[in-house]
Amino acid sequence: VHWQSIDITREAHAAQKNQSPRVLWFTGLSGSGKSTIANLVEKKLHALGKHSFLLDGDNVRHGLNRDLGFTDADRVENVRRVGEVAKLMADAGLIVLTAFISPFRAERDLARSMLPEGEFVEVFVDTPLAVAEARDVKGLYAKARSGALANFTGIDSPYEPPLSPEIHVDTTRETPEAAAERIVEHVLGIWAPV
Ligand code: PPS
Repeated sequence: VHWQSIDITREAHAAQKNQSPRVLWFTGLSGSGKSTIANLVEKKLHALGKHSFLLDGDNVRHGLNRDLGFTDADRVENVRRVGEVAKLMADAGLIVLTAFISPFRAERDLARSMLPEGEFVEVFVDTPLAVAEARDVKGLYAKARSGALANFTGIDSPYEPPLSPEIHVDTTRETPEAAAERIVEHVLGIWAPV
């Protein structure tokens, strides 16, 4: 396979959209609030006229990654593909938001390594297991505890928290709205107190 050179470069795509591409990579436990916060961020960016796209775990697993389950190997492949798609979308000049548990550091770092310096923004949606489990919006923690659902993140499948994320959201102290506002300010380069 030979690499085909394409005349409209990623710089040209970004320039036409008048924005800097970014990949906002949300990671956290099931039920941590990734999708909620990512949605709020995208709505704010959209309202500001930014060109964005949100890739969400539950949705991508209905299409592109419908062949994958929740073994370690399948999660690795899930996140690898999402990293590749996010890179393509960033090449197209978009501000991409990804909301996947993405439990392993190695695959998050792989996604980071595919992009130019500064383009990957890791957002750790930090919700303690006990809090996510108490919320149990989808009833999945109860199923996992009863043994009806195997390989559940935080129960019998690991989660490796980011060591130095660009943005750390402690959902026990910050509302989704406040977190989304802070993330937008970070993306658009406006100073914001933490
Ligand atoms: S991963 O680990 O990044 O590949 O997972 P992801 O693609 O984000 O999918 C997570 C959503 O799938 C549902 N679900 C499970 N999550 C974790 N473990 C197991 N075994 C599992 N089975 C189904 C769950 O609804 C997750 O959604 P969120 O939004 O994270 O709660």
